[in-house]
Amino acid sequence: MTTATIHQYVPKSTQKNYEMPIRHMDFKFDPRELDDTFFRNTELASAYFEALSIFLTFGEDLVIDTARYHRQFVKDPELKRLVTALIGQEAIHSKMHNEFNDVLAKHRFPVGLYRFLADKVFEHGFKKLSNRMQLSLMAGIEHFTAVLAEYMMKHEDIFYESMDEKQRALWMWHMLEESEHKDVAYDVFQELSGDYALRMRGFVLAAFTIVFLIPVAASVIPVMRKPRNLISPRYWKDVRRSLAMLAGPKEGVYGSTIKHILDYTRRDFHPSDHDTTAYLEYYKEKLLHPKTGLLTPYLTKEFVPGKRA
Ligand SMILES: [Fe+2]
Ligand SMILES: [Fe+2]
Repeated sequence: MTTATIHQYVPKSTQKNYEMPIRHMDFKFDPRELDDTFFRNTELASAYFEALSIFLTFGEDLVIDTARYHRQFVKDPELKRLVTALIGQEAIHSKMHNEFNDVLAKHRFPVGLYRFLADKVFEHGFKKLSNRMQLSLMAGIEHFTAVLAEYMMKHEDIFYESMDEKQRALWMWHMLEESEHKDVAYDVFQELSGDYALRMRGFVLAAFTIVFLIPVAASVIPVMRKPRNLISPRYWKDVRRSLAMLAGPKEGVYGSTIKHILDYTRRDFHPSDHDTTAYLEYYKEKLLHPKTGLLTPYLTKEFVPGKRA
């Protein structure tokens, strides 16, 4: 790939007035506590997020490898430091979701099958792409996680519809950090490439992967987990409700955020155009308060990567 900076780009992520600490967590997930209908008391939409939890670990590993490779070409020392923080945050997301996924496997969820499928897609597909395309895919993946994070931050009630506190903590911690670092991958892409057509190709690939998971989850769940679902009217009602929760224009995760998703196609788009600073402040206080924070019992240590020369 072309490693030289071909234009002067001023990264916006370096102008933030908050840090991105790498927070080490220990959730000690327990299969007895896991709620399979965590997402809005649905089977299918919850299964979608369970499938996403598995595929995300592969996406995060790709983000880590791609960010690590391209960090050496980043000129701006502050952006370089933020790339280190991004790598650290994603590494712990991947680790914690893998622990969560191991517990999912005990709930008759096809974790082994999904890991096998994801491994094929990533090892034989995405990891064979050129470095510049992987850089674009990284920015595309991070766009989708930023959209998801913003949706969740605006729908806090969703997290409290279930009693499963650890799952709540896992997703809310992930939401917080995806929003904290949402500008970084984009800024690296713009500093090192800035090629609009290339950015669009990564966006389409990321979109396809994320949407493709809906039918994957829809087809595998009733077969693997509860075959009798296929003849249960209750389940088909759940399918309709789940699809509305995921894709419906009013409140669906993707249906109601389509404008935000497609905003990425604007030539002068920047993740910070969607300002989440006030939400971040609210959730940091709520989740990390030393006495009452939801994440406090699970947070083992945190540190902020130092400036690199
Ligand atoms: Fe992540
Ligand atoms: Fe991320």
